[in-house]
Amino acid sequence: MCGIIGVVQKRGDVAPFIHQALKRLEYRGYDSVGVTTIEKHKLYIKKDQGKVEEVHRKLDLDEMPGSIGIGHTRWATHGAPSMLNSHPHFDCKNEIAVVHNGVIENFMELRKELSAKGHKFRSETDTEIIPHLLEDYMKDGMDLVEAVKEVTKRIEGTYAIVVMSTKEEENKIVCTRDGNPLVIGRKENVSYVSSDIPAFLPMTNDMILLLDGEIACLTSDEVRIESLSDGSEIKRDSIEISWTADQAQKSGYPHFMLKEIHEQPDAIRNTLRLKEDIIKQAAKIIHSSDRVFMLAMGTSGHSALAGRHMFASIAGVLPTFELASDFSDTVYGSLTDRDCIIAITQSGETTDTITAVKYAKERGVKIVAISNVVGSSITRLADHTILTQAGPEIGVAATKTFMVQLTSLALIALALGELTGFTDLKSIETKRKCLERIPEIVSETISRNEELSRRLAGELYDKTSLLFLGRGVSIATAEEAALKLKEIAYNHAEAYSAGESKHGPIALVEDGFPVIFVAPNDKTRSRMIGNIMEMKARGASVVSVILKDDTELESLSKFVFTIPEDIEPEFSTMVFIVPLQLFSYYMALRKGYDPDMPRNLAKSVTVL
Ligand code: F6R
Repeated sequence: MCGIIGVVQKRGDVAPFIHQALKRLEYRGYDSVGVTTIEKHKLYIKKDQGKVEEVHRKLDLDEMPGSIGIGHTRWATHGAPSMLNSHPHFDCKNEIAVVHNGVIENFMELRKELSAKGHKFRSETDTEIIPHLLEDYMKDGMDLVEAVKEVTKRIEGTYAIVVMSTKEEENKIVCTRDGNPLVIGRKENVSYVSSDIPAFLPMTNDMILLLDGEIACLTSDEVRIESLSDGSEIKRDSIEISWTADQAQKSGYPHFMLKEIHEQPDAIRNTLRLKEDIIKQAAKIIHSSDRVFMLAMGTSGHSALAGRHMFASIAGVLPTFELASDFSDTVYGSLTDRDCIIAITQSGETTDTITAVKYAKERGVKIVAISNVVGSSITRLADHTILTQAGPEIGVAATKTFMVQLTSLALIALALGELTGFTDLKSIETKRKCLERIPEIVSETISRNEELSRRLAGELYDKTSLLFLGRGVSIATAEEAALKLKEIAYNHAEAYSAGESKHGPIALVEDGFPVIFVAPNDKTRSRMIGNIMEMKARGASVVSVILKDDTELESLSKFVFTIPEDIEPEFSTMVFIVPLQLFSYYMALRKGYDPDMPRNLAKSVTVL
């Protein structure tokens, strides 16, 4: 949610690099873009509404002088997308430039106070109070680092801020954060700061985390990190990231989403290689807890829904799933230090999830995190982290990170099953073998369904509403399929339990109404047949995802996607979702939308 980049180097223009870095950060927001550089005590500014390449075509973001600069790609919170609301924002004299990710909650009162002092505001954003506050502090000679420290005492909310000034310190970038991510990179004679690693991945794989309550000053020669509370210097080792710059490229695919769907077999394989100890430790924490909650949002919530089934059927443990956004309003202070939370968040930065976890942690609850990002906020809060191995996911709609979350949950369920003894060891071994086969099965599922999903999109693209039905674990699959379609193709899509569908949603069905059944060969199958018959009797156009050679279900369906081989029922989401991911991708294409950058969305949602 908003991408930030700052670069300071010894010589040469930074603008072309900032332009490319913003493209790599665009998944965080893409309604407007801005770059500011400094050369000879003067700010150069280019910013406007639109995606990076649209703004570049208009303004040429590469042609800006200066070896220091900051850039921003925006997901609007305060103020509609427009040139004036685009970052960077400036003080009255255009001497201080600021980019910000987050929300300053007390900006109204600060704006009033600053306006009364004569400051002129040009935008409707909360961010703009920051350069004006800095201007106020710096007018009597305070330096940039000290002024930023003062600002942090005045502002409330969540933020990652990167600032620079034309004054005496024009070769310095200062940054600080509270609640929103910033990572720092170093390469000889260049320092980088960014919201996320892919921004500077082509230059370095080493990153230094900046944590809440810290401030960093970057020059081309060095990075100095200080504690905001007492000014003491903080020495922190860099972390080497295993991601490669190539992984953050489309590599011949037309979109990241399609590439990431195709990368799923490898992502699962790599996650299956996680050290056994890491999985066992998670299982131990869960096993020793009285109550287990799974918390997540969006697609990660659907992993939790599927994960519950895995835990229940393999280990006899049924966690409670709660949307992280509503957790503190639901548990009514009933948490104790005998409880445990499994927090699932691919980015590790989702504010809803982080806030819920902080709330629980204060009450002594143990936290197991499942995240795809090294050093992300959740990993620092958790007692134990499982780091999934999807590599960078750039497409806004989660696909391969969903798959690796399911993989980790399956691994934990198996380890937990061994601890509880709910399932005999031989069956656990059979299930483990099945899990190891899933990369191959996903691969073949992609091959046999890609063309079909394109064809089905051709038939259904103009349907205003679609229903996805499943039973048991397949409700999670149906939920995820409906979310994908809404997100990127903007069709109204609803997921329901097939059992529940006759208690209301069936009223929607009329001739040709598309109903998509997720119908694996598990114990729900015969009841699903009943539900298909009910829908068909009312004229529904039935699409089913079924096991190959299930001729009975095939004969009841107008269109089928098939899964090449039977798998253990708890893991079916990992395979049955694949044709439906492809279907939503081709629906978006058929309707002329960019599946990588759906409207109104951003990959990492860092507001409440
Ligand atoms: C859907 C999607 C979102 C995220 C949700 C949580 O395709 O990407 O629904 O799943 O915003 O994000 P994380 O997993 O980063 O907490």
